[in-house]
Amino acid sequence: MSLDYLAFVLLSLAVLGACGWLLWMFWQGPPYVPSKDEAIKEMLDLAGVKKGERVAELGSGDGRLAIAPAKQGALVDGFEINPILVWTARKNARKAGVSTHVTFTRKNFWRVDLSPYAVVTTFGIPHVMERLGRKLKRESKPGTRVVSNVFPIPGPKRIGKTKRALRYRVN
Ligand SMILES: C[S@@+](CC[C@H](N)C(=O)[O-])C[C@H]1O[C@@H](n2cnc3c(N)ncnc32)[C@H](O)[C@@H]1O
Repeated sequence: MSLDYLAFVLLSLAVLGACGWLLWMFWQGPPYVPSKDEAIKEMLDLAGVKKGERVAELGSGDGRLAIAPAKQGALVDGFEINPILVWTARKNARKAGVSTHVTFTRKNFWRVDLSPYAVVTTFGIPHVMERLGRKLKRESKPGTRVVSNVFPIPGPKRIGKTKRALRYRVN
């Protein structure tokens, strides 16, 4: 086998691997797009998070949507698939002085048990919302509040809406 041919095979495998990885990531959830400040404010107002309540942030990005309720005294767990964003979010939480109220874990949120959480926040993408609705129905306790940035979640009852955010209650 010539070196040129070997290089061609290796390059093809690398390109195929990268395409497969991108497809898998797309299937798992939304790409990184941070919530705008106004959206975070609307989501928090809708969620009505209380001190000591447990909040799950699904796909926590750089941490901004987890840090905001932590500043209000909630106990927030952010789950994020991208390790660089997990590292950034931890750094941002330290900077905001809320490291005692928020954790960031590198974990696929489809593998997170949602049952302990009173509030779930998400900034998803349309093709995963139906799956999320089924997961909430399976795992979350009745009364769990769910707040979504922009995209509707089929399944749970919608009980509030602003320009950028939607609030649901799991029945
Ligand atoms: C649209 S961004 C929202 C980031 C943050 N929640 C915010 O509102 O600023 C979605 C985030 O979810 C992460 N993500 C996508 N699929 C995921 C999965 N299956 N498990 C954990 N994180 C995921 C992405 O890496 C990205 O950071």
